[in-house]
Amino acid sequence: MLLIIDDNVEIIDIVTEIIGDLFDKVLTAKTVEMAISKLSENQFAFVILDINLEGRNGAEVIKFLVDTPSNPNKSVPFVIVSGIITPQFVQKHNQRFAGVLMKPFEHDELRSIAENVLHGKPLPLPPALPAEPKLDDIPFLKCNLPFSILQLEKRVSKVMDGIRKNPRLKELFSKMKNVSPNEDYIFQHIGMLINISTGICIELEWNTDKTLEKFVFASYLHDMGLSDRPDLAKINSFEELESKKEVLSEVEYKLVLEHPNIAERSLEGLREVPPDVALIIKQHHELPKGTGYPSKLTFQKISPLSSVFIVSHDLTEYILANPKWIMSNYITIARSKFRGSHFIKILSALDNLSK
Ligand SMILES: [Fe+2]
Ligand SMILES: [Fe+2]
Repeated sequence: MLLIIDDNVEIIDIVTEIIGDLFDKVLTAKTVEMAISKLSENQFAFVILDINLEGRNGAEVIKFLVDTPSNPNKSVPFVIVSGIITPQFVQKHNQRFAGVLMKPFEHDELRSIAENVLHGKPLPLPPALPAEPKLDDIPFLKCNLPFSILQLEKRVSKVMDGIRKNPRLKELFSKMKNVSPNEDYIFQHIGMLINISTGICIELEWNTDKTLEKFVFASYLHDMGLSDRPDLAKINSFEELESKKEVLSEVEYKLVLEHPNIAERSLEGLREVPPDVALIIKQHHELPKGTGYPSKLTFQKISPLSSVFIVSHDLTEYILANPKWIMSNYITIARSKFRGSHFIKILSALDNLSK
């Protein structure tokens, strides 16, 4: 018997069409509760599990299987659909982990996984991290630090492929290639921003390909006006900017102060840029207590996605300045700096992520 756990009827239909004939019966569950009830009452040969279930996390289903000794599916093999999970997760559940399928997945791949499971073939080794993607004229993004996030580089390279296929976006992103090859600050910074913002989104269960795309754009483009001035891009707070007022020229000072607005304006009229990216960029140096720049917004005015980006940016800078950083130390500092409900949730997400 097969159990398909997915809140999307279309996916249920597709999976049933691809592998339904291999099983005597197909049951479906659209919510975590339904899945748990079906798993308590029936013994299955195979489970297909979507990780995003109407705001809940499909991993709760796996937790139930692990934590409930009396359930009849303790060793059922499962496939995660559209799952963004960590290598640690794969390792932990490797005994019955039959694969990860990203939507839209290859029908043949699902069919052959299901056939292998039914024929009792050994489950595959945990998927290796993908090889470094090739990014020709748009610089390569290394986003495997600080958190180990399965398939992140593959997903990012998919977004970058889309960008390279669009002439207007390609031109916009290629502006960043003028950065000196000796100066890797900007690219380390971009890669970490994508990594941390995705890690937070996983914990907040906001982790979709659309959200990832927004953070790739925002990470890449937020310091666009300063890409050839890493010394200025490193200025991260209004106090730091003020302390350097004496040594900066008036033009440099204004450039730092206004770079979020300048970058936002250069996206005007570009319909190819996903919604929210311009706002994230405009708000990336704001702080919830109203002490950021350029608009001195308070937390009520800072959008939830911008809040994720602001914390990711702050942690990125902290890591780059403190190579021996420790998350608990960072969280203590961050708790005094960020307030407001979005920020509290984000800091808890970071805390969970590092455990
Ligand atoms: Fe910036
Ligand atoms: Fe930045």
